[in-house]
Amino acid sequence: MPLYKTIQHNSSTQILIWNITESFEQLNQEVQLNEKSQKRLDGMKSEMHQRAFLSIRKLLAQAGYSDFDLYYDEFGKPHLINEKHISITHSHHFSAIILSNEAVGIDIEMQREKIQKIAHKFVNDKELERLQKINTNDYIKKLTVKWGAKEAIFKIRNEKGISFKDHIQVAPFELNETQTIANLNYNGINQQFTIHFSELDTNFTLVYAFENNMPTQAN
Ligand SMILES: CC(C)(COP(=O)(O)OP(=O)(O)OC[C@H]1O[C@@H](n2cnc3c(N)ncnc32)[C@H](O)[C@@H]1OP(=O)(O)O)[C@@H](O)C(=O)NCCC(=O)NCCS
Repeated sequence: MPLYKTIQHNSSTQILIWNITESFEQLNQEVQLNEKSQKRLDGMKSEMHQRAFLSIRKLLAQAGYSDFDLYYDEFGKPHLINEKHISITHSHHFSAIILSNEAVGIDIEMQREKIQKIAHKFVNDKELERLQKINTNDYIKKLTVKWGAKEAIFKIRNEKGISFKDHIQVAPFELNETQTIANLNYNGINQQFTIHFSELDTNFTLVYAFENNMPTQAN
């Protein structure tokens, strides 16, 4: 039962991470799915994706929920039938959920060299120039945190049209820190988020985000 890690972030926020080592058959035997989820699972082309999807339900069970407590809105954002907020992520052999009384978003990303090639698509030019002054390894790690932060914020706001590069800025941080802030400026709305980050294993990054304030009208 490879529950990899549980992080009790605060009294109302818990992060549960699964290390997916089980076969599809094993997970499939252990997990009960509602009709919609069963259809989704059956339609998935990749077995890894199916295992990740099922492992999320194992995490739900750890927290006292089942697939029957979970539903998705029209954008694909997951919700629980009670008041708790939930966010979901999967990356290779890791999957995770975050549960909170507050609006939250979570992302796990593998640290990959390839991220350097797409950096200009999600980080602005000034920020990129500063980041490029550090060594390659740290550059990749920092880019991965930034990417994860923007994905996590996107999962909270869930709005079409948000550009990672133009609308979300992550404040500078060091890799030996564990948190930073980020701002979303979109459609005349300004909102600040707290970003928490850490390493999972050697080359995976975990990021989760909280809203610091309700959206305010930008001047
Ligand atoms: C939807 C999105 C956030 C998923 O993130 P991802 O890193 O690809 O994948 P993850 O495994 O971390 O997350 C997948 C989970 O996110 C959740 N999710 C999907 N759409 C969502 C949405 N609109 N809002 C919140 N959560 C969402 C789902 O729970 C999904 O898993 P599940 O369907 O198996 O339950 C991402 O694909 C996306 O659309 N990003 C914004 C687009 C963008 O601007 N990209 C970059 C431009 S440079």
